Amino acid sequence: MSPDLTVHHIGYLVKKVQKAKDAFASLGYQIEQDTLRDEIRKVDICFLIKDGYRIELVCPYAEDSVVSGLMKRFKNSPYHICYETTDFEAAYESLLADGFMAIDTLTPAPALSGRQVVFLTNAVLGMIELIKP
Ligand code: NI
Repeated sequence: MSPDLTVHHIGYLVKKVQKAKDAFASLGYQIEQDTLRDEIRKVDICFLIKDGYRIELVCPYAEDSVVSGLMKRFKNSPYHICYETTDFEAAYESLLADGFMAIDTLTPAPALSGRQVVFLTNAVLGMIELIKP
């Protein structure tokens, strides 16, 4: 049985958060939550929304940011899809059973009002994020 997952956002790596905001705005995106600094991951985060699709701009502000390596590989690019679930433990176990591996452990996300998130990866799909309710 597939886990109960709802798409929350698409994470989008950007090198310059203000310029990226302006470029998305010119495509018709609205700012849902303006730029916040996540000092745990050393990234600036901004949520934009268009037609019900939520984009999370993720911009490293330090060399040792968690996404600095990804930035070198992907440049400006979408790189994860984040899911919400009503039953975190069940969804997490189901993902592990389906071949996902946790990249980190549950850690608060300041840009999501401190809700805890975990990142997982799978050889076929790449990276996903799971938010604890
Ligand atoms: Ni995300």
